[in-house]
Amino acid sequence: MINLFQHLRDESVDASLVQLLESVINASKEIAFRVRQGALAGVLGSTQDENIQGETQKNLDVISNQLLKDLLLACPHVRALASEEEDTVVAGNPQGEFIIAFDPLDGSSNIDINGQIGTIFSIYRARENIAANDEAQFRQQGSTQVCAGYVLYGPSTLLVITIGKGTHAFTLDTIQGTFLLTAKDIRIPADTKEFAINMSNQRFWNETMRRYINDLVLGESGPRGKNFNMRWNAAMVGDVHRIISRGGIFLYPSDNRNPKQPAKLRLLYEANPMALLIENAGGKAWNETQRILEIQPRELHERVAVILGSANEVDMCLNYSGS
Ligand code: F6P
Repeated sequence: MINLFQHLRDESVDASLVQLLESVINASKEIAFRVRQGALAGVLGSTQDENIQGETQKNLDVISNQLLKDLLLACPHVRALASEEEDTVVAGNPQGEFIIAFDPLDGSSNIDINGQIGTIFSIYRARENIAANDEAQFRQQGSTQVCAGYVLYGPSTLLVITIGKGTHAFTLDTIQGTFLLTAKDIRIPADTKEFAINMSNQRFWNETMRRYINDLVLGESGPRGKNFNMRWNAAMVGDVHRIISRGGIFLYPSDNRNPKQPAKLRLLYEANPMALLIENAGGKAWNETQRILEIQPRELHERVAVILGSANEVDMCLNYSGS
């Protein structure tokens, strides 16, 4: 079996990007170890907990962020990093060629229930003539990502990655400590009968979204004329992985719960990397009006609506008028 680094060599990936990926991989192997150990590693619980000295205890979110930060800042090729867990951009080596945005642990509400969680990352070339700690480094459209991926901490640990062309999956061999290529050039089927959405939010969606989902639920007896099944992991990384594995549509639409936050998922840490992985596997990823990869980011922690997955179903949703 081909391991990740052989694959990167075969694909002629720049040595500097390979070194940067090595830092991400090493951090994620450390995170995977702690996730597997669970309560035995003392990493469960929230930061509200206090130890006997009255100090705030770290949870896995914080630990994962720190591990990634430490390893990435030690890598000479990282000019700046942005994390869902950091307020601002963190500067790295001013000569570094790349910048990286990441969600250290997506789906954190699954940590304490032994559910799926994962690390999502997105790498761009650094912009010249812009300071390393300037947010403007990250105001780049998702289409310019040089690499995107996630590490899913499930029953096995998987790395799903794209470096320009193709989306590939590698499984962590925990004995050797190496990621082995287990699915090359993944293709997402264009049609599906499976959807993923948090149904409890439906009263906050717009009318078209309500009608689209309602017609999926009506199944054979509704205008779609076929039965749909629903799956919801409550961790985007798990839901996207199911779609990459067998197709489907994942939706986190805009809603009117809170006017200051019309959408939930983050453009830089969640939507963009997942959109690149999905598109490079033949799927589609849009907000309600445009390709996610063409959105011009305005701020670091910007949120966007996300509709992604099997191409024909995403088109159906975007053009939905119903019966
Ligand atoms: O943004 C984090 C996240 O946990 C996603 O991974 C997931 O899709 C979503 O939030 C679930 O949020 P909720 O349970 O509020 O719908």
